[in-house]
Amino acid sequence: MKTLDDLIGEGVAGRRVLVRADLNVPLDAVTITDDGRIRAVLPTLTALRDAGARVVVMSHLGRPKNGPDPKYSLAPVAVRLGELLGAPVAFASDTVGESAQSTVDGLADGQVALLENLRFNAGETSKDEAERGAFAAQLARFGQSYVDDAFGAVHRKHASVYDVPKLLPHYAGGLIMRELEVLSKLTSAAQPVGAATSQRSSAAQPVGAATSQRSSAAQPVGAATSQRSSEPTRPYVVVLGGSKVSDKLAVIQALLPKVDALLVGGGMCFTFLKAQGLGVGDSLLEEDQLDSCRELLASGKIRLPTDIVVADRFAEDAQTRTVAASEIPDGWKGLDIGPATVSAFADLLSTARTVFWNGPMGVFELAPFAAGTRSVAEAITKVDGFTVVGGGDSAAAVRQLGLDETAFGHISTGGGASLEYLEGKTLPGVQALES
Ligand code: 3PG
Ligand code: MG
Repeated sequence: MKTLDDLIGEGVAGRRVLVRADLNVPLDAVTITDDGRIRAVLPTLTALRDAGARVVVMSHLGRPKNGPDPKYSLAPVAVRLGELLGAPVAFASDTVGESAQSTVDGLADGQVALLENLRFNAGETSKDEAERGAFAAQLARFGQSYVDDAFGAVHRKHASVYDVPKLLPHYAGGLIMRELEVLSKLTSAAQPVGAATSQRSSAAQPVGAATSQRSSAAQPVGAATSQRSSEPTRPYVVVLGGSKVSDKLAVIQALLPKVDALLVGGGMCFTFLKAQGLGVGDSLLEEDQLDSCRELLASGKIRLPTDIVVADRFAEDAQTRTVAASEIPDGWKGLDIGPATVSAFADLLSTARTVFWNGPMGVFELAPFAAGTRSVAEAITKVDGFTVVGGGDSAAAVRQLGLDETAFGHISTGGGASLEYLEGKTLPGVQALES
């Protein structure tokens, strides 16, 4: 796979470089509420500008269905990108039409343009190869080479991700390289030694007890992180939340053999609790996942909440109580993990040397149910080791809760993309860069 460094080494001064970025940021009307994805692509854009390239950036935003829709315009993103780059960004009001053509034609060396939302054109997401290919050919006219730095979209077989690289010399940007390097460390682990026998019969045993005897805990983290496909330093703990077990089933199945412990919170924990025979009141429940949950629980590595913050309604001003996980009252719904669970999870995390976290522990957007997510996130910032936050929601939670982003080893810009990578799936965008 050729990289941005290779392209810059070949020389890009005065040349048009088409860059696929994932600038799909959350918008409150026209206000960007989290610009993490814009900041993440700055190093690639700056390197190209500094080398004298004429940079044409393209991205999707949201999921518009029927052509251009001002609600999904990238115009506010162009403004923010310009502020962050410290240079104006020329914005094309269409994607492959007259505005795009004249904007690209008007670029001087070192300047940046952004095309309007790719998904305003049906060809971008089409399942029809010919329709996608035709749109890709229109996009490819704007570049002499192609750089993909849209890690968040590599799992999509879309024209700008999968078909354009067939038409132009193609290179992986710095963000994609870093994301793949980090995530590869989380999947390279073999089965932990003795895990199946030492933990299966002892659900009550703290995980630290089973894992602390491993001598690798003393290994300096730098040693593990400087090698590409090395074993993660143990104990390796995964924290999963979010609302649905069905969304996370594949990643749990893929990671469970590799980890020392998997802590479950969020809406998905209630299906696991129910699978253990507990009543869950009006909490989220996926009846059709109960058998899968029972199978996963048999690993002995899954840790579930022991107390829950319940509410009589899904609302900021709901009545709330903290109850044992075995005593969720009928008519009440669990909306966060409780303080005893937080402290048990924090204990386990304090011994961990590698952590992957995806998905909030509760409805963190509502203040009464934010404590679980906040406390677990804070515990992860204190881990003496390698920590990765994956997924749009957990990354947004980190920033919305005002936590220090730099306290985490890596915050992935990919939600679905990072999960599909960890599941071991082929990512069309990566496949296209490799061929
Ligand atoms: C994301 O937000 O996960 C990426 O930008 C991909 O968006 P999509 O799920 O709409 O394809
Ligand atoms: Mg998504």
